[in-house]
Amino acid sequence: MLAKIEQLLQEVKGLTAQNPEELEALRIKYLSKKGAINALMADFRNVPAEQKKEVGMKLNELKNLAQERIATLKEAFDNQDNGAAELDLTRTAYPVNLGTRHPLTIVRNEIIDIFSRMGFTIADGPEVEDDWHVFSSMNFAEDHPARDMQDTFFIESHPDIILRTHTSSVQSRVMEVSQPPIRVICPGRVYRNEAISYRAHCFFHQVEGLYIDKNVSFTDLKQVLLQFAQEMFGPETKIRLRPSYFPFTEPSAEMDISCDICGGEGCPFCKYTGWVEILGCGMVDPAVLEANGIDSKVYTGYAFGMGVERITNLKYKVKDLRMFSENDTRFLEEFESAN
Ligand code: DAH
Repeated sequence: MLAKIEQLLQEVKGLTAQNPEELEALRIKYLSKKGAINALMADFRNVPAEQKKEVGMKLNELKNLAQERIATLKEAFDNQDNGAAELDLTRTAYPVNLGTRHPLTIVRNEIIDIFSRMGFTIADGPEVEDDWHVFSSMNFAEDHPARDMQDTFFIESHPDIILRTHTSSVQSRVMEVSQPPIRVICPGRVYRNEAISYRAHCFFHQVEGLYIDKNVSFTDLKQVLLQFAQEMFGPETKIRLRPSYFPFTEPSAEMDISCDICGGEGCPFCKYTGWVEILGCGMVDPAVLEANGIDSKVYTGYAFGMGVERITNLKYKVKDLRMFSENDTRFLEEFESAN
């Protein structure tokens, strides 16, 4: 009996299994009711009394070792299983944070949305433009200061090719290929040779508007801009138009809205005037219509142009223009809820 126990002890010490099925077979072989150890237990009563102590201890040792060994092997298989279940090989290696729309995109889309509902369609044009579309067709005199090196980026070796300084160039692009009625807005990026500071940048964004038809009047312009201002800044918003000058409009005006911080009372934001400027506008100069192939005796039109950064600053109180192009995610994430 002792020799049999000794043999099983050696076997059990070296037990291994390749898979859970093999392990189960071993458990049945050694530890089940009909297993080898139980069979020895059953024989135990036949052991002579003087050997009972020694054989009993050995038998217990065998049983404990077998249980321990099989439990250890089982644990190894269990861990392997869990590992496989937790490891999802289709997952991306890094957590993916959802991006947010850029504040300028949010505001540009809102501007587009408001004018779309008033029947305007979107027109597009190139950022690298020629002098004709940016200046000459827009009635800029040959010696107009805006053509100066100070403002305009020229493409080296091509004095006629420039980065557009305003989206008014798209007005010309639209007029030269279509006849009234024309009702478009032109969102886009523009460039100016300015020193970068909190209030100026070498590129920014504008939305241009153009409406040409028979009998278009300044009243139409004012009504559309009032509608825009109240949708953008709230139904209490007031507007005022101040006479101004642009080469491509006559008469020209600049539009202010009532300061939405103090409601027109006067505060540091509006420099105690109660008003903040938001855009330029006017009736399209007949010379511009003619230069672009539209009969100024039959048609009249209005135009307006606004800076998207300016509107965004007013709406979200961003004080430093440079924030828009620095891609600091702490700034960009602040607009998460506006998306
Ligand atoms: N192009 C002007 C600028 O860049 C903005 C502007 C003013 C556009 C009046 C217009 C307009 O269409 O009528 O400052």
